[in-house]
This record gives sequence, C-alpha cells and structure tokens, in this order.
Amino acid sequence: MPATPISIRPLHHDDYAVWQDLWAQYNAFYGREGDTALNDEIVATTWKRLMSDEEPVYGLVADLDGTLVGLTHFIFHRNLIRIADTCYMQDLFTAEAARGHGVGRKLIDGVADACRARGIGDIYWHTQASNKTARGLYDRLARNTDFLVYRTDVA
Ligand SMILES: CC(C)(COP(=O)(O)OP(=O)(O)OC[C@H]1O[C@@H](n2cnc3c(N)ncnc32)[C@H](O)[C@@H]1OP(=O)(O)O)[C@@H](O)C(=O)NCCC(=O)NCCS
Repeated sequence: MPATPISIRPLHHDDYAVWQDLWAQYNAFYGREGDTALNDEIVATTWKRLMSDEEPVYGLVADLDGTLVGLTHFIFHRNLIRIADTCYMQDLFTAEAARGHGVGRKLIDGVADACRARGIGDIYWHTQASNKTARGLYDRLARNTDFLVYRTDVA
C-alpha cells in the first residue's frame, strides 16, 4: 500500500457506484449476500437518506489517492439522559486490501469530528464478540461497556 495519506470526507452524490460496491462487501461480511443480499429498494432508500439533509443519517468515506477504500455510516439521535444527541455508528468497513493501515481508525476519528461539530459528546457502536480484528481496533479507542444487545422481530 502506498504511503499516500488517507483522507476522510463526507459521501458525495457521485460516489454512488463505489459506495454501493463497498457497502455490498460490508454486507457480505455479515452474510447478507446472494439470496440474502439487501434488496434494491433498501439500498436505494438508504442512499437517498444518506444524501438527504432532512435525515439524521450520515456517511464518510476514506479516500486513498482517488480510490475509496472504506466507509462508515452513523446516526444522530436523542438520548433521554442527556440534552445533547448521541451518535450511533452503525457501519464501519475497510476494503480488504487496505486493512491494517489506519483507515478504520481514521474513519472513527472522522465520526468524532462530525460529532464535535454538532456538539455531540459520545459515539457508541456494536460489534460481535467474535470479531477479534475489529475489537483489536476498538479496544484501543473506546471502552467496552459490557452491555449485551437483545433484538426481537415484531410481526
Ligand atoms: C474492522 C476494520 C474496519 C478495521 O479496519 P482497518 O482499516 O484495518 O483498521 P486500522 O488499520 O485503522 O487498525 C487500527 C488498529 O488495529 C490494528 N489492527 C488492524 N487490523 C488488525 C488485525 N488483523 N489484527 C490485529 N490488529 C489489527 C492496527 O494495527 C491498528 O493499530 P494501531 O492504530 O495502534 O497501529 C476492518 O478489518 C474491516 O472492515 N473488517 C470487516 C468488517 C468489520 O468487521 N467491520 C466492523 C464491524 S463492527
């Protein structure tokens, strides 16, 4: 990997094709591929929301010499024990060939900058207990809250 600096910037309208490819790779990491891939309507709706000023949903990408090599998506929302909103980082992904060179860390720094600009003082996110690689990064940047995530489908 070249020594060119990685720059972090917001997603632009004309990033759609590359964003879709990176996001498909990220979803595939979680088994959402082939028959279980996100359908076109979800992908189109998510993109529309990411591009909308009316939605509290944001995306950043990592640019290495003109090539996008990573992304993060995050959501600002209310927190009932604070006045300020909080930030949920839903997705973080670095293309396989670019891993281990600080892209993930820089993307998280970028989310922190976006929060600071909005007066938001914290970021939280989930990861699987088994995701050793991600945890290797997260353990250096954040504290493990020890909460478990429960989810139920509502018919
Ligand atoms: C997790 C992920 C985003 C990390 O991205 P990355 O760009 O490789 O991360 P970085 O290069 O910023 O790594 C940051 C630190 O973790 C370390 N690290 C990265 N990959 C590592 C690995 N495979 N094993 C051990 N440490 C690792 C780096 O040495 C670095 O430490 P340093 O900053 O102290 O030098 C990337 O592996 C990925 O996209 N994985 C698949 C999707 C995923 O798991 N996403 C997270 C879901 S919660």
